[in-house]
Amino acid sequence: MKHIFNKGKDPNKPTLLLLHGTGGNELDLLPLAERVDDQASVLSVRGNISENGMPRFFKRLAEGVFDEKDLVYRTKELSQFLDNAAQEYGFDRNNIIAIGYSNGANIAASLLFHDQHALKGAVLHHPMVPRRGIKLPDLTGKDVFIAAGTNDPICSSDESIELQSLFENANANVEIHWENSGHQLTSTEVAAACEWYRGLN
Ligand code: MLT
Repeated sequence: MKHIFNKGKDPNKPTLLLLHGTGGNELDLLPLAERVDDQASVLSVRGNISENGMPRFFKRLAEGVFDEKDLVYRTKELSQFLDNAAQEYGFDRNNIIAIGYSNGANIAASLLFHDQHALKGAVLHHPMVPRRGIKLPDLTGKDVFIAAGTNDPICSSDESIELQSLFENANANVEIHWENSGHQLTSTEVAAACEWYRGLN
């Protein structure tokens, strides 16, 4: 997958996996990683799907309606990419924290839904429930931060709360942060994510 890897100064820090929103690319979230932890390694990936020229991490059938078969395939593909990248760049495969926005948050949530070992934790900016009707793996010890908008037209408050419950029922530690706004990624939710990250461990 097309990506950028920036080696951090402190190898004991998690590797921050950056996953952009629809139409974005691997450059978009670099400033966020800098704010969250400027000592950590950063792996920023571009989604392999092109929807009319807009990069995404998996196909959709319509706005908010996911192509489940492709979602499952792309989730595995990303997880395998992480296995290979950890070997190539020499970072700890078991210490990856994803930071995703929108479509990128959805694939990060999907990694947690399908693969107990894919991530150590995740910051999900405006995620949706990636898939329903499956049993999640045991996510004991996984830390998840959700930033949601009370007026998000793409992800309703109910869906954000549903996602929180699904993670909590799988034993993840979840913090949800609400913004009185829509789907946009705000500076205050990034500040809240930084605060959450500093409180880990
Ligand atoms: C998705 O397709 O992942 C969601 O609708 C969010 C987005 O528009 O990217």
